[in-house]
Parts: sequence; structure tokens; C-alpha cells
Amino acid sequence: MRILKNELPNLGDKLPKENPCQHLELVEVELITLLDTLSRNGTMTVELLNIDCMEYMKGLDDNAFDLAIVDPPYGIKINMNQGRRKGDEIKHARKAWDNDAPKEDYWAELCRVSLERIVWGANNFSWIPPHNGWVVWNKDITGNVGFSKAELAYCSSINAVDMVKIRAQSGKETYSSKIHPTQKPKALYNWLLAKYAKPDQRILDTHLGSGSSAIAAHYFGCDFVGCELDEDYYKAAKHRFDTETAQKALF
Ligand SMILES: C[S@@+](CC[C@H](N)C(=O)[O-])C[C@H]1O[C@@H](n2cnc3c(N)ncnc32)[C@H](O)[C@@H]1O
Repeated sequence: MRILKNELPNLGDKLPKENPCQHLELVEVELITLLDTLSRNGTMTVELLNIDCMEYMKGLDDNAFDLAIVDPPYGIKINMNQGRRKGDEIKHARKAWDNDAPKEDYWAELCRVSLERIVWGANNFSWIPPHNGWVVWNKDITGNVGFSKAELAYCSSINAVDMVKIRAQSGKETYSSKIHPTQKPKALYNWLLAKYAKPDQRILDTHLGSGSSAIAAHYFGCDFVGCELDEDYYKAAKHRFDTETAQKALF
């Protein structure tokens, strides 16, 4: 059972009503992680940078990060307004960032600076080595849509296929509220961090986009650096991060 920091005030509601004692051991383990996270609160840092990730990585030592969770351009000239429904105002201006995927030199740098890697869209990249470790994100979409109902991530630390079902657009994360055309849900990053990272680790996202990963990292309690090249996206992500983390800090 996992309890997120912002769920602490409602801890009682999270405990199962029937036989809560059965879960005490698990709750204890989670609470220790949680207390560890809380005690690091003053020391962990989330850095958002308006920079080309290749420039940023050039200055890093080998293995500077424990884990890179990245979502580079897939090079498929994505429809910047996918998920838009009838009546929704067109939100996202056409930009060229998805015209080309990164090349092998990106992969070489990423491997140099990180110990483990989770790479979204890896099925689009010829430089990903043959490997059995994949994460499938089932977007929980029914009916006919003009885009993928699932996405794949290469995951260096496993040797099997893992899977998670998280609704792509739910609650406040709908087309109208998205600040980025390929914005992934925070819940997806919450899940990835809980499963594949530890709160005392350093995490890198080379292609920050909307900042969903940064918000998840903030609540997870790890050190995090996110790079975003596009100034508009960077400013929007920074504003979203500042707003969302300030609101939750009131609890
Ligand atoms: C697929 S999107 C990331 C979406 C992100 N995962 C989210 O949830 O919002 C890729 C992003 O990488 C940015 N980008 C492209 N080339 C870059 C580079 N060399 N360095 C940093 N960011 C880059 C693009 O502007 C775009 O915002």
C-alpha cells in the first residue's frame, strides 16, 4: 500500500476498513519511506532548465544520475492537437520539435550520465539495443481514436514487460487544460517513480515538456533536473510546477 505525502492528512481513509492489522507491516514500510522523504524535504532540489539537453549533459560527470526518465521527440510529426474534441478551442501551435528524433549521440550521452534509463517512445528509436525490458502504458481509452491507445518505454532495469493502466485524460488533465501537446499524466510519473526509483536518488528528464515528471518528482522527494529547449514550453512548465507545488504546500 502506498501513501503519498499529500495524502497524509487522510491517512485514516486510506487504511482498509476490514482487517487493517493485516496491512500494518506494509504501512510501516511505506511510512518509513514517507518519513525519509519528509526529512529530506529541505534538501532535495528540483531544477528546471531552459536548455538543450545535449549541452547540459556535456558538462556532467559519468553516472551523475541514478535514473533518467525521458520522453524525447519520436520523429513522427505528431498531431499537436491530438485528443481535441468537437467544440474544444485549438490550443497548441504547430511546432517543429517532433520532426526529428534524437540520434545515437544522444543515447551515448544518456548512457554515460545515467545508471538506469526509462525511455518513452523507444519503439521509434533505431539506437535502442535489443532488450526484453519494456513498460506498456495502457491509456485506458475505448472507442476509435486517431492516436495510439498505449505507449511503450524501454526500461533498462528490468528483463520483462511491465504494464500500467492510467487514463490519459482524466480529472483536470484534459485536452483543454494541457499546456503541452504530448503531456503525460502526473499519475504515470508517480507510478514510475514509486516502482523504479528511490527518494534519495537523482533523476534526469532530458525532455521536460509540460513538467509532469518534475511535479511527480517533487512529491516523491528525489533530486530532479529537467531540460526543455523550447522557451514557451519551459515557461509554461515552470509556471505549472510553481503553481501546483505551492497549492499542495498549503496542506
Ligand atoms: C515528447 S515531448 C515531452 C513531453 C513530456 N513528457 C510531458 O509529459 O509533457 C518532447 C519535448 O522535448 C523538447 N525538446 C526537443 N529537443 C530538445 C533538446 N535537444 N533538449 C531539450 N528539450 C528538447 C520539445 O520541445 C518537447 O517539449
